[in-house]
Amino acid sequence: MKSLKERILELKKEKNAVILAHYYQESDIQDVADYVGDSLGLSQEAMKVDADIILFAGVHFMAETAKILNPTKKVILPDLKAGCSLAESCPAPLFKEFTEAHPDHIVITYVNCSAEVKALTDIVVTSSNAVKIVQSIPKDKPIIFAPDKNLGKYVMEQTGRDMLLWDGSCVVHEAFSLDKLVALYKQNPDAQIIAHPESETHILKTANYIGSTAGMINYVKTNPSNKFIVATEAGILHKMKQEVPNKILIPAPSNEDNTCACSECGYMKMNTLQKVYDCLLNETPEINVPDDIREKALIPIERMLELS
Ligand code: 13P
Ligand code: SF4
Repeated sequence: MKSLKERILELKKEKNAVILAHYYQESDIQDVADYVGDSLGLSQEAMKVDADIILFAGVHFMAETAKILNPTKKVILPDLKAGCSLAESCPAPLFKEFTEAHPDHIVITYVNCSAEVKALTDIVVTSSNAVKIVQSIPKDKPIIFAPDKNLGKYVMEQTGRDMLLWDGSCVVHEAFSLDKLVALYKQNPDAQIIAHPESETHILKTANYIGSTAGMINYVKTNPSNKFIVATEAGILHKMKQEVPNKILIPAPSNEDNTCACSECGYMKMNTLQKVYDCLLNETPEINVPDDIREKALIPIERMLELS
């Protein structure tokens, strides 16, 4: 009998579909994907897709972004409930009030937000281009940055710009334990600490390198060190192990008592290989974005892609 992976690969061909997956997806899903990447890479890839169907193995805002960028394709997501604490922290009606209270501000939003919030935005950013894009804004222009206050603080520190921050955060990156991290580092003083900028300032202060998931993978490949403590969602370790099989990769410890003693995103992990198969077979759940929202949300995403 054929394995689930084999059946997915067959179905993908039969349906003329591609699978785009984020690095936080479970290993089996990454293995059947046509492209695995960070939020920026996935957006760039989604735009180029020529197939009929994009199965987005990631979370809801990522699938929505793919639909905004490539609206004639059918975009499907294995589990509709695969959300994101950052996107949920920023409901569009409240964000609209916030922007209207500061009409002189440029509105910059992290891609981890809904299409409705993107439609209220001047420029979208991802973790790999946020610093560069904020640096490109004229110094006399005040900036609203939403929804991630931790990424926002990091960008402020890197650029020397003051920004008005929305009070959102990533539940996964906020769960890293500084005490446990310091204890782990004491046992591994030869390790480099690498962290995602959604982490809190006290974690970022310990890091030798801070960057997007793609940036972190590139760092372990190019840095001569043999050992890394990795402060981001544990799904990234699958690709890292493939890229640097002889290096030691240690997940940064989380405060949460979970099975892997590391940080896992419950939203990302809602997608399973079985759900990927069912989703491809039934071509549902489908992601659609109303035309008026899509047209408005496309503008700040395209600005980001131009500036990246
Ligand atoms: P990147 O992969 O773009 O660094 O984003 C991380 C993340 O948390 C996605 O939800
Ligand atoms: Fe959202 Fe954090 Fe999960 Fe990424 S890791 S999808 S930012 S909750």
